[in-house]
This record gives sequence, structure tokens and C-alpha cells, in this order.
Amino acid sequence: MIDPFLSEWISFGLRWLHVITAIAWIGSSFYFIHLDLSLRKAPTLPPGAGGEAWQVHGGGFYNMRKYLVAPPEMPAELTWFKWESYATWLSGFFLLVWVYYLGHELYLVDPQVRPLTGWQAAAFGIGGLAFFWLVYEGLCRSPLGRSDTALLGVGLVVIMGAAWAFGQVFGGRGAMLHTGAMIATWMSGSVFVVIIPNQKKVVATLLAGGTPDPRLGAQAKQRSLHNNYLTLPVVFLMLSNHYPLAYQSRWNWLIAGLVVVAGALIRHFFNQRHAHRPTPWWTWAAAALALAIAAALSLDGAPSRAMAAPRAAELTTLAGHREEALGLLRARCAMCHARQPGWEGIGTAPKGVVLETAGDIERQAPAIRNHAVLTHAMPPGNITEMSLEERRRIALWLAARDIRPEH
Ligand code: HEC
Repeated sequence: MIDPFLSEWISFGLRWLHVITAIAWIGSSFYFIHLDLSLRKAPTLPPGAGGEAWQVHGGGFYNMRKYLVAPPEMPAELTWFKWESYATWLSGFFLLVWVYYLGHELYLVDPQVRPLTGWQAAAFGIGGLAFFWLVYEGLCRSPLGRSDTALLGVGLVVIMGAAWAFGQVFGGRGAMLHTGAMIATWMSGSVFVVIIPNQKKVVATLLAGGTPDPRLGAQAKQRSLHNNYLTLPVVFLMLSNHYPLAYQSRWNWLIAGLVVVAGALIRHFFNQRHAHRPTPWWTWAAAALALAIAAALSLDGAPSRAMAAPRAAELTTLAGHREEALGLLRARCAMCHARQPGWEGIGTAPKGVVLETAGDIERQAPAIRNHAVLTHAMPPGNITEMSLEERRRIALWLAARDIRPEH
């Protein structure tokens, strides 16, 4: 057993690294897309250059030129952009192993979905990522891959299907996170097996004095396009693990699909704008609609619907309901959420949430509503077997607070 304090710091360190590498990757990707779209023809361009852009940043002016296939002469030094992507994937994978596979009990497995052991859960997770990566590669290379529109439609179905499939083996949190990791694997995979190798082949052919195969560039361009449109959805899916409304709903696979649509639409807005094409303002309305549907589904699919709503006649005194809620929260939550947690592997109260005294639970009331009543994110995987009736008793306390907050 790893010391819980050490474990927490390693998790923090890996997350820090992952967020920074992702910023570097997404930042350079946004930059190059913007640059590419803003290139303009100019009479002064040297032979082989397709466009140029002037930019100002950090106290100087930059004159960027793009050589469509390659410059007439290879420069002695070339900067490649690939480690941003590889480091993001690698740090993300280690984080997945550290938080989700080693912490499968709390974060990944939901015994009501499937009572998996840690090894089984990791096998499903890694196997799923590998399987769906092969599906994506197969689709891009198949005749279907020649039409961007067809690929878009099928890709969306694959993403929702994968979210649904992961939801058949993991709890909602692990399912949404694996859907994000799957898309991230497609993206880094594209850099690793298509974009960089193709570019290397082009450089090698040019150095040998030959003419590069234009298909190599076209393939890389297609993968870059996918990566561009998938950037925003993947970040949403990665962050969703902090928002049980998004992952605990039985419609989470549909929410994943809607977020892919919304994220792609928002990207589209910026792509068009940076290319100085007519700005598609409608994309915001469409994205907002998709997100509003996602939000509505998150509530409709919330497990709280399975509980009978508290009736006013059931309410007694606020103090009485609070006393009852405190008893239940102590019994079901305080082994982890205590000043000195008793749960093996938990060193300090998770997220600083302590649920031991009446004052504690009053302070945490909104969070308790979100995590244990509206959704069943807590206890993780219902590990302490909180019953529906117990959650309803807590809902009664919250209802009593809403009605008579002064007591
Ligand atoms: C087995 C240990 C365990 C039990 C039991 C448990 N929790 Fe948690 N709780 C955690 C962990 C671990 C986290 C941190 C989750 C994360 O990293 O996102 C957490 C986080 C939370 C948070 C903060 C969420 C956030 O993102 O800020 C709240 C609120 C919470 N729990 C409430 C409860 C309630 C209410 C119960 C009882 C109904 C409960 N927990 C039972 C382990 C537990």
C-alpha cells in the first residue's frame, strides 16, 4: 500500500505535468491553425512559398512564410512539434493509471454497473482505448475516410457508442474519462503514426532530390483537421470528472456526443474568423442549444429521479432533519470525510470536505446536494451502500433548510 500522502502528491505532480503539456500542445496547435488560416499571398514571396503573415509579439515583428511542399533548400535546423503531443498523452496515461487504475475502488469501478477487480478494470480500460484507436485508424484509412462529412457522422456515432460501452463496464466518472482518453489517443496517435512520419518521408524524399507524394501531405492535413475540431470536446471530457451532473446521468453518452458537436461548432467559428471568411455567428446559438440539451439531459437522467420527491407534509423541524442527516452522513461518509479519515488509502479529508459535525454539514449542504442527492457520485461507487431512502432523508433536510433557512 502506497502512503496516502505520497500518493496524493504524486497525483498532484502528474496532473500538473499533464495540464502543462496539454497547454503547450493545444497552444501550439491553436497558434499554427491561426497562422495557417491567416496566410496571405504577396508579390514579394520567394518561389515555393504559398503565403505569408506578419505578426507582432513580445517586442518584435515576425514575418512568417509557408512553403507548401518544402523550401528550395532544406534549412540546417528544423524545429519539429511533436513532444507537446507525446508528453500530453504519456503524462495523461500515467495519471490514468495512478488515479483510476490504482484507485479503481474510488474512481473507476461501480459495483452496481459491474463488480470488477482492479486488474479487470485496467484491462477493460486499456483494451478499450486500443480497440477504439484501431477503429478510428481503420475508418480514416477506409474508403469512408475520403469524405470528411461521412467521417464526421460516423465518428460522432463511434464516440457516443464508446461512451455508452465504457458506461457498461465502469461508473459514470470512469466512462466519461475513458471517452476523453480515447479521443486524446486518436489525436496523439495521429501525430505519432501519420503526421510526423509523413512529414519525415517528405523531408527525406526532398533531401534525396525526389518529388514527395502529395497524398502524404493530404493525410496529415486530414488528421490535423480532426485534431483541431476535437480539441475543445476532449478538454470538456477530461474536466467532466469534477462535475457529477455531467457524468452520473444515464444519458452521459448522449451528453458526450452533444459536447463534441458544441465544441466543434465553437472551433469552427474561430477557424472561419481567422481565415477572414464570413463569421458564422450562428455557431454560437447552435453550440448553446447543444449544451442546453446536455444540461437538461443531465438532470433528467439524474438518479434522484428514482426517489420520491419530499412532500411538505413530511417535514418536521429543521433541527430534527439535520440531526437525522448528520447521523446518516456520519455513517456513510465520515470514514473518508473526517479530520482523521479512517478509510485505508485516504490521508486527509477528500477535497477538504469534512462531514462530522452539524456545522460541517451546514457548510457543505450545497455540495452534499450535488454529490449525494441530485447525483449519486458520493459515496464513490456507493461503496458504503447508501440506500435510496437514506438519500431521501437527506433531501428532506435540504428541503427543510430551503423552507426555513433561519432555523
Ligand atoms: C470511500 C471514501 C468516501 C466516502 C465514503 C465518501 N466520499 Fe466524498 N469523496 C471521496 C473522494 C476520494 C473525493 C475526491 C473526489 C475527487 O478527487 O474528485 C470525494 C469528494 C467529495 C466531495 C467534493 C467533490 C468536489 O469535486 O469538490 C463532496 C461534496 C463529497 N465527497 C461528499 C460526500 C458525501 C456527502 C458522502 C456520503 C454520502 C461521501 N462524500 C462519501 C471519498 C469518499
